[in-house]
Amino acid sequence: MEILTESALEPKVGADVLSVAVRATTFDGVKPLSEQTVLDIGRMPAEVASDSQNRHLVVVDQPGEINASVLAYAHLEHGDGEAASAEIVVHPDHRRQGHGTALLNALRELSPQVRVWSHGQTDAAKAFAERFDLQVVRELFQMSRPLGPDAPPLAEVSLPEGFSLRSFEVGRDEQHWLAVNAAAFVDHPEQGRVTLSDLKDRISEPWFDPHGFLLIEDANQSAARLAAFHWTKVEAAEPGSSQPADGEVYVVGVDPDYQGLGLGKAATLAGLHHLQACRLPAATLYVDGDNGAAVATYTKLGFERSALDVMYAPSAGQ
Ligand SMILES: CC(C)(COP(=O)(O)OP(=O)(O)OC[C@H]1O[C@@H](n2cnc3c(N)ncnc32)[C@H](O)[C@@H]1OP(=O)(O)O)[C@@H](O)C(=O)NCCC(=O)NCCS
Repeated sequence: MEILTESALEPKVGADVLSVAVRATTFDGVKPLSEQTVLDIGRMPAEVASDSQNRHLVVVDQPGEINASVLAYAHLEHGDGEAASAEIVVHPDHRRQGHGTALLNALRELSPQVRVWSHGQTDAAKAFAERFDLQVVRELFQMSRPLGPDAPPLAEVSLPEGFSLRSFEVGRDEQHWLAVNAAAFVDHPEQGRVTLSDLKDRISEPWFDPHGFLLIEDANQSAARLAAFHWTKVEAAEPGSSQPADGEVYVVGVDPDYQGLGLGKAATLAGLHHLQACRLPAATLYVDGDNGAAVATYTKLGFERSALDVMYAPSAGQ
């Protein structure tokens, strides 16, 4: 089985990969690829840094043919000091034919200790992980909270003296936000590495709305200083779906200099009020299962666990 390994995909191949991901989403009930991977698939060769070690691995039915169809895909994210991580998706009509195995082997040739995400931890992913003796090394909880008319009321936002709330301004706030985000997520493998180009990619997305990107500033300084933020995200509902979109608590961060003042709770509540004002039925968020402080904060605000993503790694003996 031939596997194309590329640092950037031709637009047609990228579009085919995304349609395989859509088919898998309908089949499995969960999206197989992260937002970052979907953005990487859409990047033109000229937009990919020449030293990038991220790779797209593609299995097609007729290699080299103009009308070849994508059967399976994997994305390798190089880890900058961390173990590399990957996602694998096989077209639902072409499963149990060894494509997942071939992609895992190819990923391991590029990065022997590669870790593989399973979004939603489906039965197929569990069986696949068991077959290759992969162990769960990280759990990412999805938590949800209703916001509709019957939902428990949201507390009011209360800010300490001298702090104020406003929306993100494109062209003005990027560098301050990147600095606070990097400081707040210094130990976080993905969020702490967000670059200006990643931020601009998201600002260009159709879902981006500065009114839902809230900043808390400390006006006690000579120049107002960004202390905390809550970026919310509202994606359009899936085409043809009768379910309205949920709002997402996309990222909440507090500058370490300002931690312990209640700004995380205030920022979270401000964003939830915004999502409620947008008439969304519920809010969801992702949080690392071992981040006890964050899980406790969200639980107090009415969130409950609704799904689980896991990261698999080779077991110790492999
Ligand atoms: C998980 C996934 C990648 C497997 O891809 P695949 O091409 O069907 O896997 P393979 O054919 O290489 O299967 C290898 C072995 O894994 C196990 N396996 C895979 N899917 C299975 C299933 N649905 N039920 C039971 N065992 C399964 C079997 O042991 C299989 O060997 P066998 O077919 O000889 O019995 C595919 O189901 C998928 O794309 N799922 C959605 C995305 C996802 O969950 N990715 C995370 C992977 S950790």
